[in-house]
Amino acid sequence: MASPPFPPLPTLPSPAGTSGFRVSKEQLTTIVPVAVAAVVGTYLVSRYFSRSSSCSKGKVNLTLNKDSPKVVHSFDMEDIGSKAVYCRCWRSKKFPYCDGSHTKHNEETGDNVGPLIIKKKDA
Ligand code: FES
Repeated sequence: MASPPFPPLPTLPSPAGTSGFRVSKEQLTTIVPVAVAAVVGTYLVSRYFSRSSSCSKGKVNLTLNKDSPKVVHSFDMEDIGSKAVYCRCWRSKKFPYCDGSHTKHNEETGDNVGPLIIKKKDA
């Protein structure tokens, strides 16, 4: 059998009457619930803070009319003309119309959004 490449560590003196780390049943009944509560508490707190700090990640609208409780656009069909291209990625500088910003958004995020195109049927 090969010997280890380093010398063994010297043994440390232990206090009289002890032979290492021992935990009684009574101590375990306290330690285990406290440890479980600490783990669960840490998980819940970290989840709470990660949710609140990443809240804007879940939002689609990052900049448009943020003072309004709801962003709504309405158009009459007669005013659309032969074709209209509407943004669905919420990144257009000409919102609600598409300006092609979805291409950059898709490249950066791996998303696949594109515009809504409304056009009259070809006669
Ligand atoms: S810019 Fe948003 S869909 Fe084209």
